[in-house]
Amino acid sequence: MCGIFAYLNYNVPRTRHEILCMLVKGLQRLEYRGYDSAGVAIDGGNDKNWEKNFKSIKLIKKRGKVKALEEEINKQVDLDMEVRFECHVGIAHTRWATHGEPNFVNSHPHRSEKNNEFLVIHNGIITNYKDLKKFLESKGYEFESETDTEVIPKLIKYMYDNRESDEISFSTLVERVTQQLEGAFALVFKSVHFPGQAVGTRRGSPLLIGLHSKECFPTDHIPILYRSGLDKKSGAICDEASLQPLGETLSMEFFFASDASAIIEHTKRVIFLEDDDVAAVVDGRLSIHRITRSASDNTSRAIQTLQMELQEIMKGNFSSFMQKEISEQPESVVNTMRGRVNFDDYTVVLGGLMDHIKDIRRCRRLIVIGCGTSYHAGIATRQVLEELSELPVMVELSSDFLDRNTPVFRDDVCFFISQSGETADTLLALRYCKGRGALTVGITNTVGSSISRETDCGVHINAGPEIGVASTKAYTSQFVAMVMFSLMMCDDRLSMQKRRREIIDGLRILQDQIRQVLELNEQIQVLAQELTCERSLLVMGRGYNYATCLEGALKIKEITYMHSEGILAGELKHGPLALVDKMMPVIMIIVKDPTYVKCQNALQQVVARQGHPILICERNDEESSKHAYRTIEIPHTQDCLQGILSVIPLQLLSLHLAILRGYDVDFPRNLAKSVTVE
Ligand code: AGP
Repeated sequence: MCGIFAYLNYNVPRTRHEILCMLVKGLQRLEYRGYDSAGVAIDGGNDKNWEKNFKSIKLIKKRGKVKALEEEINKQVDLDMEVRFECHVGIAHTRWATHGEPNFVNSHPHRSEKNNEFLVIHNGIITNYKDLKKFLESKGYEFESETDTEVIPKLIKYMYDNRESDEISFSTLVERVTQQLEGAFALVFKSVHFPGQAVGTRRGSPLLIGLHSKECFPTDHIPILYRSGLDKKSGAICDEASLQPLGETLSMEFFFASDASAIIEHTKRVIFLEDDDVAAVVDGRLSIHRITRSASDNTSRAIQTLQMELQEIMKGNFSSFMQKEISEQPESVVNTMRGRVNFDDYTVVLGGLMDHIKDIRRCRRLIVIGCGTSYHAGIATRQVLEELSELPVMVELSSDFLDRNTPVFRDDVCFFISQSGETADTLLALRYCKGRGALTVGITNTVGSSISRETDCGVHINAGPEIGVASTKAYTSQFVAMVMFSLMMCDDRLSMQKRRREIIDGLRILQDQIRQVLELNEQIQVLAQELTCERSLLVMGRGYNYATCLEGALKIKEITYMHSEGILAGELKHGPLALVDKMMPVIMIIVKDPTYVKCQNALQQVVARQGHPILICERNDEESSKHAYRTIEIPHTQDCLQGILSVIPLQLLSLHLAILRGYDVDFPRNLAKSVTVE
């Protein structure tokens, strides 16, 4: 996944320095999406008459994080940073490599040729790039990078060079390019042939446009201009001439971005583009184009108001986004339940599902699909979902589910758990299930994301923006969301009312109990110091806490780069016990639930092999503690909720281990916050 950001000022004077600062800050907000190289493209030239500077585009790129690009920009002695532009388009990109190693030539923006006539920034993957590259090379175009993206600027240059009229618009050229592309993309273009204009488009990768004007905004929607198809009102074929884009020209600023975190500090007014929208800014006016239109298509895109606040995406006085997000969990789980769980009358209502709840109740099977941490949230709540829904529940890894061509039927209900709502494997699994007639439910944390828009219904977990690559608060909120769904599924079952009330009473005190677990931070920091130099770490548990082991092991792997494995305690004797000796660090989760005695047996097996188990157990559990090397004591709660409390020490342990080992907690090597490629 990559981060794309573009800034267009119209009738708003900005110095080159201000523009570059805007672009760099935009990339910094998106850096969690990918950070192995970055680049910007701006108007070159130092003429005081800014309109003469359109003719050349300056491309600055650098391997490494955005900071390295910023330093490279500051070395550009050939650029007069005080040149003022009344109108300017700057595009910027931070990369997570999919094709071609992280280096200068593979960094974005990519260009049509050495004169920088056309440039593009891209998030996604062009799956037919090899065919396009072969065609373009046959037309004499020379490639300089190993990327799939580079075919795009060369293709638009080809379209331009072979245009039938000099009147052709930038948006028409882009439309013709996208009709040749296969795969996923969010793109923003800049060109010397269309000075002061920007065109953005998307298919399968997110792209938002932020709008800001000092004057009052003339509209709350942008009409869509269809190349062909029926115009709803007149019934006539509407084309570019028939509808005027956004009102009279204002002093305007436009912000194109992969997600809202790069826009929120500038404006809350945004448009979420849909797949195959082509958004063009010409003379300060925004228009949205689509090639064809079916009767069900909208005639406009709404200008929405973002609900998030800037401080939500800022680290504040925390050392990392991950530390901030771990500490936010007392509040984030409450936000997930807000307006949904009524603790007075013990009701649970998930508004996003109400239109489909009858169909959901009639289904024959529940399939829960996700990747990584989101998959673990499915595993964590599988047992309570089976118990309260009395339905068979399958929990699947998105990629494996697709590899198996798993049978799916119309009377299945499929859940897609995804923090980003953009994970390619999960999105493809969603489309697979929709194609087979199943009812689809999204459990996401990102408004306007592809999964949230393409599922039939869903639940927004309301955990707030999660920036750290290692998911923490999203996991506990996904966990709570699935428990709430389970409670909804049995709200009419008399036999389950007692169990429902106990679980809801457990949810009522969850916030305070999470706070209590967070108070173990210093104790866990000490434990981390003891484990800093270890090469491997086993995490064992079973029942409701099997998922906790998987999730804890993933946290440790992904940010400390220490090998770690989550092991089902019931499997210990079937192999993993061979790993246990006095040198192997073992964390065991033992809580007073139906697996308690079996976990005690596992504990005995570890101790008998000179293991020194570190226990995550309940307070005053003497039976467990007497065999433990260390104990991390957590409050008792309902068995099906215990995994929310027991995962937090493992989140904290991975955080402190990564810090002690000197690694970047928020941006671990080789990883990205959302994997938007298969
Ligand atoms: C979790 O810490 C990782 N960042 C990763 O496993 C993540 O959970 C997975 O890529 C799924 O992401 P999603 O929830 O955005 O779909």
